[in-house]
Amino acid sequence: MSSSGKPELPVPLTNLKIQYTKIFINNEWHNSVSGKTFPVINPATEEKICEVEEGDKEDIDKAVKAARQAFQIGSPWRTMDASERGNLINKLADLIERDRLLLAVNTGVNDGGKLFSNAYLMDLEGCIKTLRYCAGWLTRSRGVHTSWRQRWKLFTYTRHEPIGVCGQIIPWNFPLVMLIWKIGPALSCGNTVVLKPAEQTPLTAASCGIFNKRGRVPPGVVNIVPGYGPTAGAAISSHMDVDKVAFTGSTEVGKMIKKAAGESNLKRVTLELGGKSPCIVFADADLDNAVEFAHQGVFYHQGQCCIAASRLFVEESIYDEFLRRSIERAKKYVLGNPLTPGVNQGPQIDKEQYNKILDLIESGKKEGAKLECGGGPWGNKGYFIQPTVFSNVTDEMRIAKEEIFGPVQQIMKFKSLDDVIKRANNTLYGLSAGIFTKDLDKAITVSSALQSGTVWVNCYSVVSAQCPFGGFKMSGNGRELGEYGFHEYTEVKTVTMKISQKNS
Ligand code: NAI
Ligand code: MG
Repeated sequence: MSSSGKPELPVPLTNLKIQYTKIFINNEWHNSVSGKTFPVINPATEEKICEVEEGDKEDIDKAVKAARQAFQIGSPWRTMDASERGNLINKLADLIERDRLLLAVNTGVNDGGKLFSNAYLMDLEGCIKTLRYCAGWLTRSRGVHTSWRQRWKLFTYTRHEPIGVCGQIIPWNFPLVMLIWKIGPALSCGNTVVLKPAEQTPLTAASCGIFNKRGRVPPGVVNIVPGYGPTAGAAISSHMDVDKVAFTGSTEVGKMIKKAAGESNLKRVTLELGGKSPCIVFADADLDNAVEFAHQGVFYHQGQCCIAASRLFVEESIYDEFLRRSIERAKKYVLGNPLTPGVNQGPQIDKEQYNKILDLIESGKKEGAKLECGGGPWGNKGYFIQPTVFSNVTDEMRIAKEEIFGPVQQIMKFKSLDDVIKRANNTLYGLSAGIFTKDLDKAITVSSALQSGTVWVNCYSVVSAQCPFGGFKMSGNGRELGEYGFHEYTEVKTVTMKISQKNS
């Protein structure tokens, strides 16, 4: 610990041996039923790290059976005291805290090209805190006494019950954070889980299986099946014995999941999807603060964040100065292997994302935006893209409309408050937004008018376990974390009793 109480960044482990590459069902490691495996690629070097067992429909079936068995009435999981369940979740947090360095390397270099410092200081910190929040919440989760109708001698109360077997499909940009955001609340509310990590980042999830085993979570409560989306993922969303599916990823796949849920057993669905978040800087803002937050808002983790502030609206009178400072800031990056000290930008996750981002950058150039810096690939191996800033961006350009998911900043000019509110809301998405101003009236007016699940004022990208997270419009359905997030993992039951005692 440093004197400020924050953990210090240790030296990363190198040459870490990959231990866990199999499917985790019933607290045991399994090979895939088909015998197939798939490769995991290091995006910084394009080299293969290892092969992982490839789950498909049959493996999902096995996992769902295990999860259903663990959810049976009378099972160790269903009969466990809430406080004991809380202890188990705290134990998971302890184990993750103990192996923090190992996991940071696994989620850094090995799984997804994340900067070691981001993985260790941000992701791991968030995961441990989220699990502890979930462990604490469950002792507070309760039903309520709703009515006592004297004349009829009726007494009614509600119970919050777990939904059942929860399918969870997660993306590659935050492999550990997404896993914890999914399993923490699900376990807190007493559900069982079948989780599919993204095919690009299966190693983090596989290594988390071991924590469940060591933490003595009963067999079948958490099952982890690596595999591809159209096979293993689709098998979860269309499964007749999965009671809920929670998904984070693209809007395109979110729609497929909702359709599959509707066409199978109408399982509950929560979706956390893409975004094209506006960030609005008024002329009275603290400029240094706004430049830095707007910059981090889009460049953090190579731009691979659903909340990326990828439409930056700057008021006309400060536009030129804001632009100058933003370009200067973007030029400061050192690109390279995310484990190397001093490197502050790593690779994009894979060739597909790399090509998508380069294609969008080309569209920006063709459609008349002004390229201020960057604008192409970097280095001769690995999926690196130069930090890129576009000015003179207009609302109809593809770079102003489509989710880029890369280190590309779009800067636009605005004249009036009414105009910027309309433009900011003129999108299919509604995940998050930022406002920079010292005027409280403006901050409240604009934050009320914006159609988005989260609004940050004079800051950006601040997310924590206590705060509900999710989107308006095509950015998703439902919320994760906070009290609202737990409701997405419970069914509420109304129980009404007739009391026969005359004197009651
Ligand atoms: P994706 O939505 O295809 O993948 C996310 C997860 O969904 C992965 O686990 C994948 O295996 C699974 N999946 C894919 N097809 C499926 C299907 N038919 N049924 C069930 N599960 C399925 O996202 P992808 O292709 O990795 O990235 C495409 C774009 O999506 C990105 O460029 C970005 O714009 C957006 N995205 C948004 C994320 C977010 O945090 N909201 C995370 C990742 C991507
Ligand atoms: Mg995809």
